Amino acid sequence: MLTRRQTLALGAGGLAAMSAPGLVMAREDRGPSLHELAQAKGMRFGSALGVSPPGTVSGAFHDPQYRQLLIDECGVLVHENELKWYVARPDAQTFDFDRADIIMDFAEENGMEMRGHTLLWHHTDWFPDWINNHDFGSRPGTEAERMLTEHVRTMVERYRGRIYSWDVVNETIDEAGRFRQTALSRHLGEEVIDIAFHIAREADPDAELLYNDYMNWEAGYERQQEGVLRLLERLKARGAPIDGLGVQGHIGSGNYDYSTGFDTAREDTWREFLDDVVGLDLSLSVTEFDVHDKNLPADIETRDREVAELGRRYLDLMFSYPQTKDLLVWGLADQYSWYQEHWVREDGVAKRPTPYDENFQPKPLRQAIADALIAAAPRP
Ligand code: G3I
Repeated sequence: MLTRRQTLALGAGGLAAMSAPGLVMAREDRGPSLHELAQAKGMRFGSALGVSPPGTVSGAFHDPQYRQLLIDECGVLVHENELKWYVARPDAQTFDFDRADIIMDFAEENGMEMRGHTLLWHHTDWFPDWINNHDFGSRPGTEAERMLTEHVRTMVERYRGRIYSWDVVNETIDEAGRFRQTALSRHLGEEVIDIAFHIAREADPDAELLYNDYMNWEAGYERQQEGVLRLLERLKARGAPIDGLGVQGHIGSGNYDYSTGFDTAREDTWREFLDDVVGLDLSLSVTEFDVHDKNLPADIETRDREVAELGRRYLDLMFSYPQTKDLLVWGLADQYSWYQEHWVREDGVAKRPTPYDENFQPKPLRQAIADALIAAAPRP
């Protein structure tokens, strides 16, 4: 049953599609769901979900078969874009939660929890233009802190008790390990990060507060790992109320320029990084897992096998840390992966980075995730 808001979002076409015969395998045919396997170890499994226009890669909500797959497999959802500043804040005076509430309502109607992504994507490219062009006046630091405080407080208070975990800050360390500067940090310095965490904690003392970034286990990410670790050390030293690190988990090949080989994992340095992070008394969450197959052969059987093998290795390593409790994928079926629109393959074939194919059939990666959850030790 959909709410009025969801019905309006789907429109006539979406409702007509509601009666489409489900291609998704019946629940009982598939054994325990990925979330049930996770729950058995004190963990969660879920996925991102977008409400962009129907037919777009981030418009999966409009697909009734995809919604059913989420219900079948997930215990937690996260907004793909709808709570980002550039989406929820069309101007300095407006908070637009309509699209975000569609996902929130859907999760709650179906007994799923919600993560919050993200209160501050501290990267100029993802700030709305009205912030980048804002006149911060004669006391710019005061104005910047007022703007940030209003944003974080309004977002967190609105969903207090409904979002159990927030990506308070996303991606403020670049691939060279440097702190990104923005229109806010220009006036607040790095304290912009601390302020976001303190306001979020005040607004919802019970929510888990994470720093989320895409540093990875592949060769080439060492400086970003170092930059993230030093930021976490400084935040902890300054008393910022941070609970954990969101490890996005966009593994595989083809992201940016230097990540060319499919499997360039440096498990030794990656473990050193994770050891140092948990040594700060921080939790780990895999927040955006997928396996980029850009540099793999086009053959589907080969790609699916190699994607599953690498995914299993990664998850076995991440789950070997008892501090890892959540696994969310950044899309549950291939056609709704952001990778269909980024670093397109030279041969032009569609990517296969998620657990299900475009016909909602489980792939080897789905089995790899299930096996990693089954093999994981129960969380303490
Ligand atoms: O909604 C507009 C649409 O109206 C317009 O016609 C179209 C024209 O380009 O743009 C649409 O907005 C797009 C938006 O997704 C919603 O679909 C943006 O162009 C597009 O850049 C945006 O991409 C998102 C990206 O973050 C940037 O926000 C992806 O869907 C989303 O999967 C991706 O997710 C990020 C995480 O937030 C952070 N970690 C990395 C991850 C992958 O990049």
